[in-house]
Amino acid sequence: MKVALVTGASSGIGEATAVELHKAGYTVYAAARRVQRMEGLAAQGIRVLEMDVTRDESMVEGVKQVVAEAGRIDVLVNNAGYGSYGAVEDVPLDEARYQFEVNVFGLARLVQLVSPHMREAGRGRIVNVSSIGGRIYEPLGAWYHSTKFAVEGFSDSLRLELKPFGIDVVVIQPGGIKTEWGGIAVENLRKTSGGGAYAGQVRQLSGVFSQMGRASEPKVIADVIVKAAEARRPRTRYAAGFGARPILFARRVLSDRAFDALFLGAMRRFA
Ligand SMILES: NC(=O)c1ccc[n+]([C@@H]2O[C@H](COP(=O)([O-])OP(=O)(O)OC[C@H]3O[C@@H](n4cnc5c(N)ncnc54)[C@H](OP(=O)(O)O)[C@@H]3O)[C@@H](O)[C@H]2O)c1
Repeated sequence: MKVALVTGASSGIGEATAVELHKAGYTVYAAARRVQRMEGLAAQGIRVLEMDVTRDESMVEGVKQVVAEAGRIDVLVNNAGYGSYGAVEDVPLDEARYQFEVNVFGLARLVQLVSPHMREAGRGRIVNVSSIGGRIYEPLGAWYHSTKFAVEGFSDSLRLELKPFGIDVVVIQPGGIKTEWGGIAVENLRKTSGGGAYAGQVRQLSGVFSQMGRASEPKVIADVIVKAAEARRPRTRYAAGFGARPILFARRVLSDRAFDALFLGAMRRFA
C-alpha cells in the first residue's frame, strides 16, 4: 500500500486531502499541531501525527515514525501554511521570519527528511501547496506572497534536482478555498495595520477577502492533489478553486501596471 504524509491536516485543504488519499487507498499520515482536531480522521483509520513545522525535532521524529511503521513514504504533501498580512512597515520582522518558517522552511525541511527515503526507493512524489498568490500579489500581503513565490521557485529547482532519482515535484495553486485561512489572514491584517496609516487599505482588502464566501470547498483541491499524486506523468502545476484560472490568466497576459490597476479596482469595488 502506498504511503502519504500530509501536513496541515487538522483543517481545510490538508484535512480534505488526508480523507481523499485515504479513500484512494493510501496509508495516510495526517500531521499538524492540533491533534485533537484530527480525531475524526483517526476514526476513519488515518494515522495522526503531532507535528509543528517550525520545530526541527518534531519533523525529524514524525518522519522517523512513518518510516518505522510503514517502511516507506511515496507521497509528501507539504500543505501547512497561513497568511501573515499587514503593511510592511507594521509587520514585526520576527513575525515575517515565522511566516517563512511555516510556509517555506518547514516545507524545505520535510523535503530534506523525506527525499533520502524516496531516493532509496527510486520513486516518490512531492506535492507542494503554493497558491495563486505564488504568481500574483496584493498590497499588505508582501510576506505571504514572498513565501509563496519562494515555494514556486524552490519547487522548480527541486523538480530538476530530484528528477534523476525518479522523484517528481508538483505545485498546487489554489484560488479561494473555504477554510480557516481567510479568517486568520483578516485577523492578522486588522491586528497589524487596522488602526494606522494603512487603515483605508485594510478596509478595502478586507472587502476583497469577504468574497471568500464564494470560495470553493477544500475537496476541490484535495481531488487535484490526489490526481497529482496518482498521475503517471503529472503536470508541474495544477491551478484550481474559485478564481484561480482567470486570475492566473490575467496575470500572464497583463503588464505589471495593468494588473496593478485591475487589483486596485477590485479593492475599490469591494470596499
Ligand atoms: N484557503 C485558501 O483560500 C488558500 C488559497 C491558496 C493557498 N492556500 C494554502 O493552502 C494551505 C492550506 O491552507 P488552508 O486553506 O487549508 O488553511 P487552514 O484551514 O487554516 O489550514 C492550515 C493548516 O496548516 C497547519 N499549520 C499552520 N501552522 C502550522 C505549523 N507551525 N506547524 C504545523 N502545521 C501548521 C494548521 O494546523 P495546526 O494549526 O493544527 O498546526 C492547519 O491544519 C496553506 O499553505 C495555504 O497558504 C489556501
